Amino acid sequence: MSLVVFPFKEEDPEVLLRNVEVALEHPRVSEVLCVGASEDRCFEVTSAEAPSLVRRYGKPVKVILQERLGELRPGKGDGMNTALKYLLEETDHDRVHFYDADIVSFSAEWITKAEEAADEGYQVVRHYFPRSSTDAMITWMITRTGFSLLWPRSVLPWIEQPLGGELLLSREAAERLFSDPRVRRQSDWGIDTLYTFSMVAHRLSISEIYMDVGKLHKLYGALTDLKTMLIECFSALRSLKHEHVPEGTVHHIEYPGPVRQEMKEKVGYDFERTLLLLRKGWTERQADLLSLFPARVREGMLASREYPRFAFMDEETWAEVYAVLLAHFDSGDDDWKELLFKLWITRVLQYTTTVALRGYDYAMHYLHQMVARYVHRALVGGSTV
Ligand code: DGY
Repeated sequence: MSLVVFPFKEEDPEVLLRNVEVALEHPRVSEVLCVGASEDRCFEVTSAEAPSLVRRYGKPVKVILQERLGELRPGKGDGMNTALKYLLEETDHDRVHFYDADIVSFSAEWITKAEEAADEGYQVVRHYFPRSSTDAMITWMITRTGFSLLWPRSVLPWIEQPLGGELLLSREAAERLFSDPRVRRQSDWGIDTLYTFSMVAHRLSISEIYMDVGKLHKLYGALTDLKTMLIECFSALRSLKHEHVPEGTVHHIEYPGPVRQEMKEKVGYDFERTLLLLRKGWTERQADLLSLFPARVREGMLASREYPRFAFMDEETWAEVYAVLLAHFDSGDDDWKELLFKLWITRVLQYTTTVALRGYDYAMHYLHQMVARYVHRALVGGSTV
């Protein structure tokens, strides 16, 4: 039997409670756990409703606060790890599911498909779903790029949504992850990177299942909304750069289905507001740090202080920038953080105007090929485009 976990922070309690009920109705689910980041309104409303859900469904529903388990900013990582601790120390469930609390398209199918893949013997099941061609820009430009350049022979580059928060772990997989100190310390947004990394590093078998309904979560305004997530995801990846990852673990990906027109037409972020960010927040020190980068990057970025430039940040240039960031970035240094943010925005704008503009199907093909070219570059060396 399975435990279903919803980590949450300032979510709409109605959406969360509806999702809790979907989980409670499922015959494979024997308990639901909601882990709150703080005692916000969502926490209060959900805690108040829990006893009546217990009466109605005859299954335990717990609403708890996340513990301080990690060493970085207290965030989603502490929430997910609190749930693993609960599973292992307080229960004997065989499996645990994680779902983000804000999925408005959540249904029994998310649980059923994951259970069926786990029945086939997979230790980890990861959901993936269509996302707009200008969404997932940390996933593509930071995580999948980094996995390709650092561990090209592992399955890491090929994991569809390495930052996805919807997954199932067998009890054994949960034990392995929770006993890994690298996972335990990652209390912030870097947790998804660490879970993905660690499941491959521990040779767990992985099945990726396709949910064509998607997540229908809200998209972003200017890319500033993603700044902290970007910095924490890159820092998490960089902290692993000397780690060894084995080749050839078991990995199956369900073939995706047709994507709805609505998703193909969705714009992931506000282009104009993002453009402005390139001119803001410059310091002399950031300009000095640019001397570590190739001349065309330094010149382009410095020119952006006057007028936004991004055409120079193509795939090849981004690989070179990424190598400099892996070598020199300092997550405790505000100038480095701001510079990383601006460099990433530059890459996203270049991709948006040269690739995403050509349409959804072109863009998705490009992004998958980009990963393959980065893997090739890491294995064979040299320019990839
Ligand atoms: C990503 O890149 O996957 C983040 O969720 C932002 O969209």
